[in-house]
Amino acid sequence: MRIGVLTSGGDCAGLNAVIRAVVLRAVRGYGFEVYGIHEATHGLLQRPVAATRLSPESVKGILYKGGTILRTTNRGNPFAYPQPDGSLLDRSEEVIEGYRMLGLDALIGVGGDGSLAILRRLAEQGGWNLVGVPKTIDNDLGHTERAVGFSTAVVVATEALDRLHVTAASHNRVMVLEVMGRDAGHIALTAGLAGGADVILIPEIPYDMARVCAKVEERRRMGRNFSLIVVAESVRSTSGEVATYVDAHGQSRYGGIGRVIADEVARRTGAETRVTVLGHVQRGGSPTPLDRLLGSAFGVAAVDLVSAGRFDRMVAWQNRRVVDVPLAEACAGFRAVDPNDALVHTARGLGISFGD
Ligand code: F6P
Repeated sequence: MRIGVLTSGGDCAGLNAVIRAVVLRAVRGYGFEVYGIHEATHGLLQRPVAATRLSPESVKGILYKGGTILRTTNRGNPFAYPQPDGSLLDRSEEVIEGYRMLGLDALIGVGGDGSLAILRRLAEQGGWNLVGVPKTIDNDLGHTERAVGFSTAVVVATEALDRLHVTAASHNRVMVLEVMGRDAGHIALTAGLAGGADVILIPEIPYDMARVCAKVEERRRMGRNFSLIVVAESVRSTSGEVATYVDAHGQSRYGGIGRVIADEVARRTGAETRVTVLGHVQRGGSPTPLDRLLGSAFGVAAVDLVSAGRFDRMVAWQNRRVVDVPLAEACAGFRAVDPNDALVHTARGLGISFGD
């Protein structure tokens, strides 16, 4: 059997652990051939197809490395591929042809909801045998409690809060940390709790600026002249305000809410405020032990699914074990923070404000 593996969408820590596990399980466990496709579906558009035969030798020493040895992209949807004149072209048949040219019997796609949905559409159209592996620092994929990359992002954000804590205390400042997560507040909530934030703002709970400032003032009355606010990039106020900007390619992106919050807190409370935007630091660097473990478990389980001929499935983490779920359901089932979640309850119990 000849299988392909690709990483798609935004990178994160732990992707190399998946690739390594796929190769070790497939080659040593089943005697399969493995081809690593370069830069997601872009590799399948190249002629000759951009792919490399992977062996246990070629994945030696990558477990602890960030990024992806196969590279990736979160641009260039083959169903609406941007042309130099700004128009969009359907290049899906070329990608499907690339799979055939490689002579693949199955493909393991590592991605988030968007990229797995695109791969699934290609698989349906081209008759591919596809197995999905969930990765995203946002941790928002349906049917899995964890996706590869989330743990590392949380550790990075927690460490940032630890560092901001001491400098906030030294200067009597209100420090605002803006974290990623797209439309989900998992990183902000988890790191905020672990890092001892005083205010956690997440998109699932609209905030009221007056409430945020009330928390800062309350701490002052208690003799604490500094505060830590962690804010997810896509939060919205009770009146619906969000912070987005249009980049040089004309794409609307989240970013800038940290500055909005910091300026408003300074204006309303007179506090000295500073902003840190953590950005892609959350995606790079060495994966945590948990992301290495999850990536390894997912990689092995994905190959086992291929060997069993069980396609159109995604490996998932539920109740401390790997299971598999219908890929379509996982892609469609966006998993936001439940405002009644146990972690939200814990945070409220600690006196942390959600600005509501
Ligand atoms: O989905 C992962 C993610 O890092 C989001 O948290 C963030 O909004 C987005 O990707 C950033 O994308 P890009 O790498 O294109 O800047």
